[in-house]
Amino acid sequence: PKPTPGKLRKTLRWAWRLTYLSAAGLVGYTCLIVYQDRHPEPQFEPDPSKKTLVILGTGWGSVALLKKLDTENYNVVVVSPRNYFLFTPLLPSCTTGTIEHRSIMEPVRAILRHKKAAVKFYEAEASSIDPDRKVIKVVDNSEIKGATSETEIPYDMLVIGVGAENATFGIPGVRENSCFLKEIGDAQQIRKKIMDCVETAAFKGQTPEEVDRLMHMVVVGGGPTGVEFAGELQDFFEEDIKKLVPEISPHFKVTLIEALPNVLPSFSKQLIDYTENTFREEKIDIKTKTMVKRVTDKTVEAEISRPDGGKERVEIPYGLLVWATGNAVRPIVKDLISRIPAQKDSRRGLAVNEYLVVQGTRDIWAIGDCAVAGYAPTAQVASQEGNFLGRLFNNMAKTENHEARIQELSSKMNLQGGNSAEAAREIESLEKQLRRMKDIKPFRYSHQGSLAYIGSEKAVADVSWWNGNLATGGSLTYLFWRSAYLSMCFSTRNRVLVILDWLKSKAFGRDVSRE
Ligand code: FAD
Ligand code: NAI
Repeated sequence: PKPTPGKLRKTLRWAWRLTYLSAAGLVGYTCLIVYQDRHPEPQFEPDPSKKTLVILGTGWGSVALLKKLDTENYNVVVVSPRNYFLFTPLLPSCTTGTIEHRSIMEPVRAILRHKKAAVKFYEAEASSIDPDRKVIKVVDNSEIKGATSETEIPYDMLVIGVGAENATFGIPGVRENSCFLKEIGDAQQIRKKIMDCVETAAFKGQTPEEVDRLMHMVVVGGGPTGVEFAGELQDFFEEDIKKLVPEISPHFKVTLIEALPNVLPSFSKQLIDYTENTFREEKIDIKTKTMVKRVTDKTVEAEISRPDGGKERVEIPYGLLVWATGNAVRPIVKDLISRIPAQKDSRRGLAVNEYLVVQGTRDIWAIGDCAVAGYAPTAQVASQEGNFLGRLFNNMAKTENHEARIQELSSKMNLQGGNSAEAAREIESLEKQLRRMKDIKPFRYSHQGSLAYIGSEKAVADVSWWNGNLATGGSLTYLFWRSAYLSMCFSTRNRVLVILDWLKSKAFGRDVSRE
């Protein structure tokens, strides 16, 4: 039967009511979360007789641990030079202003305020660890004091989650002349420098060669960081700079240099081809089998491996150079490695066992990019490791409490001549629970997949699907990329800010003012 106008109107009315109710529900739920966020439960001071657990770092690993940890079981002390957590997957978007940097930062004080027992936080850098004396040395470089202050913090248990620094392989000129992309400050510096290049190129009387150099944006390293940044940069140019400064647009060029035969080596072949083809369409120049050997303030010197096996040396002028060639070990980790004989062969970080204990030590655990557990240095691995340690420590504390209670009940029973049926029953139940708790499985990483944005509202995804793998790329994958990262944002506040930033840059364009 044909729908009559009356029926149609009724259906539309119901559809409208449902939409209205869902929207109202979503707004209500968000308000509730925001209210709870702003009104946390009162916190209590932890028991000073409990063990001191010191956590270094406020990155993916350490924050995942803090989220999971029952802080009432320990005296928790967090030390990090950064008083916020940084959602690194969206950092490339901050370099062009698609997302504002504060939208992907979460103050660590806000995270700690929601724990049941208070946690001490020191904004400082740990400079060394003495595993024999069980103390760490920390340095506060705060500008406000004008001088650095140093102190020691004793620990009973220590978790090292200090991440990694940028690898330069000792290539001359890299540290002095390039921008990196690891921290918020790096993204801000890149954003400024892009506009500096654009405004300088547009200045009166520049030679065409100088305009070409200034507008040449070179990215070294074709891993996910380099690829995502190149994609964001090309978008910025196509969607904003081209419209606002049209006179320099014929000179704008992005070049991605990679030493290996292809970009994104950790992705499947099909997605590597898709990315390289998309980059060609976007006019991003990919130079593979090209190894950068030296950097000056205006040029990059690289060695190209030719198909005939020969080598060719080229000099590439640049305006902006972004260096994204992966991770290197931090000095504090190098120093600890040198103090532990069992770590003498460790090159990429602290070798840990399957419970993430630093090999050759007692009571020291390492997580994330500074630990070598046989997995890639990713946020996914770091957060699963942090989560695992959180559960492990909660379990250890419970086990100790149960053991203490059993001892207490046993001595009570001994005093009473062993005839308290109630105590015996409680001991039996506690022992049963203890057996279960002591059977902790070692850490196993569960790979959920890899995602990367490649520009032009396209993304690539290698995701676990049933028992296999699904490799996909394109605009739908981009929507998936957006929703996946949105759901992974640390807080509701971050989520709302990121959505607003996306809407803002779509509606008004990115902000090209140079701060
Ligand atoms: P980090 O998150 O780097 O945190 C280290 C912490 O230690 C920081 O708080 C730092 O301030 C602190 N610290 C440093 N030195 C000291 C010291 N001496 N004493 C005390 N504290 C110290 N991974 C993914 O899985 N998916 C992605 O999409 C993704 N995108 C990325 C995009 C970019 C641009 C970058 C750079 C990385 C990306 N990664 C991604 C990788 C991911 O960010 C890292 O693997 C992850 O941050 C590692 O977590 P971590 O806790 O080991 O270290
Ligand atoms: P990477 O180690 O993944 O890639 C660095 C690339 O630089 C390598 O392909 C290497 O061959 C190349 N390289 C090294 N030296 C070179 C030279 N002299 N000249 C030219 N090329 C050179 O580093 P990246 O991209 O910084 O990633 C670090 C970690 O963070 C990785 O584990 C990565 O998976 C993860 N990450 C994940 C993202 C995602 O999933 N979307 C995004 C960004 C990072």
